[in-house]
Amino acid sequence: MNTALFISLAVVLAMTPFILKFVKHRSLYPFMPYEYNFRRRRVTFAKVLKLLKERNVKIIVETGTSRKGLEGAKSDGAATIVFGKWAKENGAVMHSVDISEDSVNGSKNEVQKQGLQDVVTVHLDDSLNYLKNFEGQIDFLYLDSYDYSKTDLDIQRKSQEHHLQEFKIIEDRLHTNTIVLIDDCGLPGGGKGKTVIAYMRKKGWEIIINKYQVLLLHKDSL
Ligand SMILES: C[S@@+](CC[C@H](N)C(=O)[O-])C[C@H]1O[C@@H](n2cnc3c(N)ncnc32)[C@H](O)[C@@H]1O
Repeated sequence: MNTALFISLAVVLAMTPFILKFVKHRSLYPFMPYEYNFRRRRVTFAKVLKLLKERNVKIIVETGTSRKGLEGAKSDGAATIVFGKWAKENGAVMHSVDISEDSVNGSKNEVQKQGLQDVVTVHLDDSLNYLKNFEGQIDFLYLDSYDYSKTDLDIQRKSQEHHLQEFKIIEDRLHTNTIVLIDDCGLPGGGKGKTVIAYMRKKGWEIIINKYQVLLLHKDSL
């Protein structure tokens, strides 16, 4: 092997980890800074960002808040900040509810840091109780509360039941143009969405994207 070829091969090999990292990086740039990698949620977040505009969304509700702020883009999703930013730029408001004081504090810090406090309200409450008392209609509902487990069947069942209950409590506040996104679905046992999605499909909701997250729209809006 001649020297030039050897050096070229060595350079390519040395670069491979960086190339792979670049290829796997799923940013929402230019909407969010390039450095944040939304990984398996990028495809659904990008579609929702389009739909929010098309459907002139004004009220966003999220269960389970961005406890890790933007640093959690890769692991948790950082939805409070992503959709809160969209709300700020588009005259909408967002409510995010969480049962944990630590999660609420983490989320509130990032909301403040990003200057979203005028449009994003983070509530400390059980999502079921919060939704029961919610007044008005919801244009975009994001279900991402009760943490799921890849291995513990009891937690899986409880998480699935909790997300079903959230939807049942709030479904009267949704309209045919409402966007519904459910997180952590592409997991062993069907993820957070398994039971609620089965229920929703019987009620006329259609799956638009079925990946790590599941995005649903009502058939009457399609
Ligand atoms: C995966 S995190 C949410 C991540 C967030 N949606 C994001 O995009 O960054 C799940 C959160 O749900 C909260 N949670 C668990 N059970 C809940 C309940 N019954 N009501 C409200 N929040 C709950 C947890 O405290 C945790 O902060």
